[in-house]
Amino acid sequence: MTTATVSPNTAVRLQSAAGHDTAALFSERLAVAGRPLSAVTGAEIQAPLIQGGHVRYANLDYGASAPALSVVSAYLNEILPFYASVHRGAGYASQISTSVYENARNIVRDFVGGRAGDSVIFTRNTTDSLNLLAGCLPTVDGRPAGDVLYLDIEHHANLLPWQGVPHRSVVAADTLAGTVEALRAELEQGGVSLLAVTGASNVTGEILPIRALAALAHEHGARIVVDAAQLAPHRRINISADDVDYLAFSGHKLYAPFGAGVLVGRPDWLDAGTPHLAGGGAVREARLDGVSWATGPARHEGGSPNVLGAATLARATQVIAALDPDRWHAHESAIRSFLVEGLHKIDGVTVHQIFQDTDPDTDTIGVVNFSVEGYDAGLVAAYLSAEHGVGLRDGRFCAHPLLKRLGLPSGSLRASFGLGSRLEDAQRLLAGIEELRRTGLGWDYVVDSGRWVPANDTRTYPDWAPNTPGTAGAAPCTDD
Ligand SMILES: Cc1ncc(COP(=O)(O)O)c(C=O)c1O
Repeated sequence: MTTATVSPNTAVRLQSAAGHDTAALFSERLAVAGRPLSAVTGAEIQAPLIQGGHVRYANLDYGASAPALSVVSAYLNEILPFYASVHRGAGYASQISTSVYENARNIVRDFVGGRAGDSVIFTRNTTDSLNLLAGCLPTVDGRPAGDVLYLDIEHHANLLPWQGVPHRSVVAADTLAGTVEALRAELEQGGVSLLAVTGASNVTGEILPIRALAALAHEHGARIVVDAAQLAPHRRINISADDVDYLAFSGHKLYAPFGAGVLVGRPDWLDAGTPHLAGGGAVREARLDGVSWATGPARHEGGSPNVLGAATLARATQVIAALDPDRWHAHESAIRSFLVEGLHKIDGVTVHQIFQDTDPDTDTIGVVNFSVEGYDAGLVAAYLSAEHGVGLRDGRFCAHPLLKRLGLPSGSLRASFGLGSRLEDAQRLLAGIEELRRTGLGWDYVVDSGRWVPANDTRTYPDWAPNTPGTAGAAPCTDD
């Protein structure tokens, strides 16, 4: 087995392989995006190639789950010896764990510019946070006080929780301006208690104007919740300045993949709502035939909390808060524009976006959605992984209504990147797609358990990984 490790020279080789124009685009951007902006754990892992050899894994799947920041991994190791029960012990380690957990709330509140009284509730992830909020919608005389309003471009996490309560949906227009007007028209009908909107599309990376939408919701007597699963890892958010009532995001997309998410927002609905997890810690007093529930975060955090998840999520927010905004933007924008310009140059490749008036530089996070004519998205993803060591997401991205609207009922491809990414990752993707268009697949592929996989795959996983390639099963939200 030969090993092709990636050295600085590899970038130069790839540069010349991709043609003069691309080489110029590449070198223009090297200074700002040639290296990661922040170190991440696993940045140098080697991926086995189907034809033999290994290559540095080009992780272009940050939008699904981002790698841990090295600072966060180090912090986890630092606090792990002190891991103990939270809120449940007088021992030294319990006291430290409790302090770390409670302090994590303050750190996260500061990170999002929370108001002094805002609740910070730790959950499992964004999906959990939005389901929690769905159980806290206000009532009048025991009946829902209004509808939840949402767009058709949402991730299922910001769509399905609202289908269990009175709701209305609005079809986004083909411009951002038109979409704001469509929401205004629906809000003017009255009877909306909550506008639920994504901060940035997980499909195309386009950013929604949350400050304007918050103002619009409030003008019409509604509140707003922002699904910041994608936005928080890419842009600073200030819920006080933007007047956002509720914000949800996930640690695993924010460089802290240790099982915690968060819901931040106004306490009144949350203190009156249905406890999200009935159990220990969520009560003031429990009787055999009844209970009086706690208020504050405890009401919704029944059971032993995920202290390591919350602590590492908070640590990641500190790293992000300390980034220089200009360097952060320049790094992400250089990779994105290089990738988009490169994809546009390849015959048969289409880059997808929802809105015609999106400014790609300011209104789009590090997410690029595309398809390759003549190839199923899942097949392209399998090819890029097996023959180029590139990891990206294919399918319908848990946003079925949007994919249908974009004319992509069987899915597309999504490259997403962030703090640990480098220009060469995008270059590897472009080189792979160019090769696919020029010479086709270099291996046979078959469908196994609903996913394309290389035929006769002899690549192995590390000894400690229980699965072998091809047995992972279908990606979520891909089946019809
Ligand atoms: C915009 C958006 N919202 C919500 C979610 C759900 O996040 P989680 O799986 O962490 O609950 C995702 C995940 O991809 C997302 O991209």
